[in-house]
Amino acid sequence: MCISALILSILLNFSLPSFSNPAKIVSMPPTLTDLTSLARQAGDILRQSFGLHLRVDHKGLIDLVSEADRQSEQFLLGYIRQHFPGDRIISEESGVSAGDADHQWYIDPLDGTVNYVHGLPIYSVSIAYAERGKLLLGVVYDPQRDELFSAESGVGAWLNGEPIHPAGATDLDHALLVTGFPYDIRTNPDNNLDHYAHFALHSQGVRRLGSAALDLCYVACGRFDGFWELRLNPWDVAAGGLVARQAGTVVTNLEGSEDFISPPQSILAANSTIQALMLDQLKER
Ligand code: IPD
Ligand code: CA
Ligand code: CA
Repeated sequence: MCISALILSILLNFSLPSFSNPAKIVSMPPTLTDLTSLARQAGDILRQSFGLHLRVDHKGLIDLVSEADRQSEQFLLGYIRQHFPGDRIISEESGVSAGDADHQWYIDPLDGTVNYVHGLPIYSVSIAYAERGKLLLGVVYDPQRDELFSAESGVGAWLNGEPIHPAGATDLDHALLVTGFPYDIRTNPDNNLDHYAHFALHSQGVRRLGSAALDLCYVACGRFDGFWELRLNPWDVAAGGLVARQAGTVVTNLEGSEDFISPPQSILAANSTIQALMLDQLKER
């Protein structure tokens, strides 16, 4: 074989893909920039329809879903399926998609639907991404105030690009708390009213905003000193929980476990001193 034929044969052997063993197509993992852009676009969809007379359906007596929830979710699912094919998506209105559980998204296309439907401008889009069960990226976007909370595991948490940290309260009398109530409040006696009554008498005050994702981010940036709630879903807490944790907040369930996503789900977020005080009181009850 002449030299040039030999070189050509070597080049072909190294550069041509083997058709008998095709390479697996693997999409690049998403970046925080991807989640930020997605949340802003979904937020634009929500803001444009805010205040309009939308079709609203009842998933339960007081549990609503509007056209805006569905439009936001369709946009988010379409984008993720196109750019990250093969990933699994857990979203509020569509449930769990087929896909690789090691590359998993948690989507709440509109957190605060009851507020939204009533024209109360407190709602958000919540998007998180996890690999092999570990939350890596989270974004919560408030379209009304143009506030974007974001976090990357091991790197930090930000509000519109500026680092955020929880407030420094050291006792409950100076702590402003926030909570929420499950949609089965009328039928399930474990409905949080007992904890609410207790903390209303043992803190500076307890608020109820109606968007768990924002509740968590507001603890992360020091607007609230503590948040607790029972029976939320993974899409409610995944992004906000990561934002809070990366900001330096302690985030657990009401048993004190670090797993605030798995059932039986509950969540408690506060600075370390307030979290310990609240956990003690929640366990006593
Ligand atoms: C609800 C909000 C609310 C919380 C409810 C959630 P949705 O989410 O986060 O604050 O109290 O338990 O279900 O239904 O508006 O997406
Ligand atoms: Ca929600
Ligand atoms: Ca929702």
